[in-house]
Order: sequence, then structure tokens, then C-alpha cells
Amino acid sequence: MIDFKATAEKKPDSQPDERRRSPFFEAFYEGYDKASLAPDQIDWLVFFASTHILELDACKDFVRMANALPDDDLASINLKKGMLSIAEDEKGHAAYLLEAMHRRLPAGEVTSLVDQWRSRKVDAMMAMVQSLLQKGGNFPSLTQDGVPSEMSDSLSDGLSDSLSNRATEQRAA
Ligand SMILES: [Fe+2]
Repeated sequence: MIDFKATAEKKPDSQPDERRRSPFFEAFYEGYDKASLAPDQIDWLVFFASTHILELDACKDFVRMANALPDDDLASINLKKGMLSIAEDEKGHAAYLLEAMHRRLPAGEVTSLVDQWRSRKVDAMMAMVQSLLQKGGNFPSLTQDGVPSEMSDSLSDGLSDSLSNRATEQRAA
């Protein structure tokens, strides 16, 4: 028999806390304290706009990863299909959140709200890079620090090397 109480105690639904702890989400939601981001307190427009950006980028990330898979074996082809299907889902989630904003705001305000959260995401990525530099180029794992996937892509594309070099230069200076 499953002890649901024990399971619940061991694994509390701590996602908002996890998000707040990562340097990325700290910066992304800068200016919003933990209480104001709680589900019963959060400004719906903040929720719609911030999540819209994350969903949209998740969609792009899944497409990019799917396209990196080879087309010559069945397992890869199936995985690719699955990932493209997830990408479609994410695209739908992003579109739904955009529509929710359009139901509440005039189009011009939706555009500026989305732009504002797009800038926040860019700033959050930069803040995270800076925090990594300060740590001397010890890059966190995806699971530990909630690095957004496009960041980890950039890191694997050689940003990691150039940042480490810059960190070394800074230490030497
Ligand atoms: Fe989603």
C-alpha cells in the first residue's frame, strides 16, 4: 500500500521555491518577491507573459534538439517525432497564454508586455553568466541550477571556453 502522506511529506510541491533558487529565475522575476509570485497572489498578466516567453523558447529548444537527431535509425526517428510533438504542445501553450493576454489588454500593451518579459529573459541569462564568471567558470548542471536549455546550448557551443578564458584573464588582472 502506498503511504500517500509520507510521499507528500517527502516530496512537497516545491517548484516555485526551486525556481526562485536558481540564479536564472531570481533574475527573471527580479522585483517580485516570493509571496507575490505565489499562485493565489501572482498578477495574472505577470504569469501569462513570463510563462509565454518560457513556453515559446521551450518550443524552439525542442525543435532544435529534434533536428539534431539523425534520420537513419528507428529509435532516433521516433524520438524526433516525440520531441517535435512536444514542441507543438509548447507552441500551443505559448499561443494560449498570448491569447489570454489579448483578452485582457489592448494589442499594443500585449506587445510591450511580451517585449518586457523577453528583455527580462535576456537580462536573466546575462545575470546568470556573470554569476558563473564570479564563481570562476564552474558551470552548474542543468538539474542543479535550472540553467535554461538555450544557455546550456550556448555553453556547449564554446561560450564555456571563452568565459573560462575571460575568468582567467580577470583573475590574472
Ligand atoms: Fe508547456
